[in-house]
Amino acid sequence: MYLSRLLLNNYRNYIREEFTPHSHLNLIQGENAQGKSNLLEAIFLLGMGKSPFNARSREIIRWGEGWFRLEGQVERRDHSLKVELVYKKDGVREMTINGQREDNISQLLGRINVVLFSPEDLQLLKGGPALRRRYLDLQLCQISPRYFYYLQQYRRIIQQRNMLLKDIRFDHLREGEDLSVWDRQLIQVGTGIIYKRQGAVSKLAPLAAELHKKMSGGREELTVAYRPSISGRGERSPEEIAADFQRALAAVRGDELKRQFTMIGPHRDDISLYINGRDGRKYGSQGQQRTAALSLKLAETLYIEEEMGEHPILLLDDIMSELDSRRRQFVFDGVQGKGQVFITGTEGDEFSPGTRGRRYHISQGRILEGWSPD
Ligand SMILES: Nc1ncnc2c1ncn2[C@@H]1O[C@H](COP(=O)(O)OP(=O)(O)OP(=O)(O)O)[C@@H](O)[C@H]1O
Ligand SMILES: [Mg+2]
Repeated sequence: MYLSRLLLNNYRNYIREEFTPHSHLNLIQGENAQGKSNLLEAIFLLGMGKSPFNARSREIIRWGEGWFRLEGQVERRDHSLKVELVYKKDGVREMTINGQREDNISQLLGRINVVLFSPEDLQLLKGGPALRRRYLDLQLCQISPRYFYYLQQYRRIIQQRNMLLKDIRFDHLREGEDLSVWDRQLIQVGTGIIYKRQGAVSKLAPLAAELHKKMSGGREELTVAYRPSISGRGERSPEEIAADFQRALAAVRGDELKRQFTMIGPHRDDISLYINGRDGRKYGSQGQQRTAALSLKLAETLYIEEEMGEHPILLLDDIMSELDSRRRQFVFDGVQGKGQVFITGTEGDEFSPGTRGRRYHISQGRILEGWSPD
């Protein structure tokens, strides 16, 4: 699939800009603070319904204005799609898909698949588990609307359950009856999330391992495994997961009452990453950690392609300058001829021979079309 047209209106530093990207490689060059990341953020927002940086909609509205508007036209294999999003300062959101009003943002998910890769993702190994959960969540939400629904539900359940755990401290009578109601929901929805994550990791792991092996010249083995906080290893059925969840919850009950928060569940999951049999997070060199992070991100692209039957739109924000020439070449080779790719940078990369694409220059929220080898 590819984005054929984008309109940015009062979007961050863009006043009103129409952009008609190339269906393959888009090399976008611009000095600092000209609007490169903002452009990729806008494309991500059209796919995911939210900013990748967790920015609030009102922060995105161009300073001094009351609303922003995005329009995107996407060509998929068998149909085209037009999405319009308007956010107003007062919090009102309007969305239309192919001219039809939609109220729920979940209607958007899965229609425009995007993978964003920014320097922050190079922290996938070094950073905390939240980054790795997010890595899984962003993919799964695009592939499975049900997963998005589970996540929303789960967040609410955790909030309510934590509140109750606090209440129980002052009123012990509520413990037995009320908590068991929330336990049931926690287990039911949590099991849905765990089962989906388990499935995703089992597909991502071999893809990432193969990429990592290639990138390290066959010297390194990357092992990716899902580590749910309720413990347990290997592939499990939903029934087995629910039973394990129940047991684990019973085991921490006393602690939970003392500490007044939900101590186990998908909100505390992690992914383990081993390089040549050792924990890459603790023992990996900088270079190994980067290679593994890169492999995980490229694996994400392949996984979404496998699940959706089409290559997602790849957004590479300023990562080339962070990579050495060997890894840069690897990324270039990996994305060539695959689908639509946006690569931003202050230097501007070179087209490899035979590549289809176009060069763009961004300056103060204006996008100028440049040279194309086509
Ligand atoms: N709501 C807003 N209204 C107007 N301008 C904004 C808004 N939010 C951010 N900006 C400005 O947009 C400009 C461009 O930001 P952006 O992050 O896209 O730069 P960039 O080209 O990616 O730069 P860098 O190379 O440093 O990453 C910045 O100067 C920023 O201050
Ligand atoms: Mg930037």
